[in-house]
Amino acid sequence: MPSTRDLIESILERPSVFKSREKLYPEYVPPYLPHREEQLKALATYFRPVLLEPGTISQRVLLVGSIGTGKSATARRFGQDFKLLARQRGLRMEYVHINCHRDRTLYLVVQEIARQLRIPIPPRGLSAQEMFQLILKQLENKNMYAIITLDEFDYFIEVAGNDAVYFLVRTYDEHPELTKRISFMFITRGLTSLSRLDTATESYLIRNVVHFKPYTSSELFDILKYRSSEAFYEGTVGDDVLKYIAELVGADTGGSGNARLALEILLLAGNEADSEESPMVTIEHVRRAFTKTNPNLSVMINDVIKHLPLHEMLILLAIVRSLKATSEPYVRIGEVEEEYHRVCEEFKETPRKHTQVYEYIMDLKKRGIIEAKVSGKGYRGKSTLIGISIGPLDHLEKYIVELIEYLKGGQP
Ligand SMILES: Nc1ncnc2c1ncn2[C@@H]1O[C@H](COP(=O)(O)OP(=O)(O)OP(=O)(O)O)[C@@H](O)[C@H]1O
Ligand SMILES: [Mg+2]
Repeated sequence: MPSTRDLIESILERPSVFKSREKLYPEYVPPYLPHREEQLKALATYFRPVLLEPGTISQRVLLVGSIGTGKSATARRFGQDFKLLARQRGLRMEYVHINCHRDRTLYLVVQEIARQLRIPIPPRGLSAQEMFQLILKQLENKNMYAIITLDEFDYFIEVAGNDAVYFLVRTYDEHPELTKRISFMFITRGLTSLSRLDTATESYLIRNVVHFKPYTSSELFDILKYRSSEAFYEGTVGDDVLKYIAELVGADTGGSGNARLALEILLLAGNEADSEESPMVTIEHVRRAFTKTNPNLSVMINDVIKHLPLHEMLILLAIVRSLKATSEPYVRIGEVEEEYHRVCEEFKETPRKHTQVYEYIMDLKKRGIIEAKVSGKGYRGKSTLIGISIGPLDHLEKYIVELIEYLKGGQP
């Protein structure tokens, strides 16, 4: 029996595909953001006067886009870089990032602004408004400027309400004599939450908008390629693995275009590789990781499989076995059909004709159990390629075999 210490040590010293796993954690802000150059340029254009004519303008920009499109990362990256550039020019600039999911009231937001700016607030009960005036005064005294991002701004609108938003965004309109020391970025997933505001405030906010579109699979591939080079040892994650994740998540290939999801799958796939001490991340690791990010999906699929006709199940089994035999994400329909004939022999069934097989495969696709696409570059000739994104395939195979045996057993 190994001592517990040896046991723990053996795990600690186990080789890993990761060179720096934390580079994939959500809080890490990468130095580059591929495919967000347009958005960064737009922000630089909007905030240019803040740097070139400090004090004359308080800028407000709205960043809008669906989940995982890089809004928070872009705001943080821009804020930090802008701060450094301003300082190089002798301007005392600060960047403040507030998550309104956590701080939803005006009081909490203002308190957090003070904390991040290291402005001491007297313990006696100041109102949010008084506290904000104190912050403005301190910035004036110290000749400082700040860009403040209110991230997940929808929560602030919902909880703090119209007056609080008005108070924050129109401070300088009420006091035109003040040097304008604070500018804002607001981040939301959509414009609908703004309709809760009165029309004046709403139209004020949507004057400067930067849009973030869901990522396409080729954009995600570039992002994954870059982020994996930071996080993994060279040669442990192949382009085929990255391409597969990018296709699962890409907005143009049926996914949501959410970079967070793509990076989570990559991280979990790396963990899968480590847990079985594999020197490389494989397609099968991606399947397992994908299933972990979407446990409902595999429950749903298992449920759908249960009700398939026998020969559709046999074809599905053939697909699973063909995929298991290769390290590729997809197999050609021809290979599946050959495997289907072997499966039919094994279960003593007469194989269905080619057209029927094709129809069954299209049905499996329609039900969301498999992916099917026409082969593109890299394959000889045109052919339908078939893949399964959930895993482990071993479990799926066992499950289908049990169902088939049950169905067969139930027959006279
Ligand atoms: N262009 C990119 N290059 C590299 N990493 C990116 C890029 N876009 C997003 N990411 C990464 O993807 C993850 C999600 O991005 P981010 O948190 O900025 O999304 P978001 O638009 O704020 O989403 P949400 O609406 O859910 O808050 C982060 O880990 C981020 O670092
Ligand atoms: Mg965000």
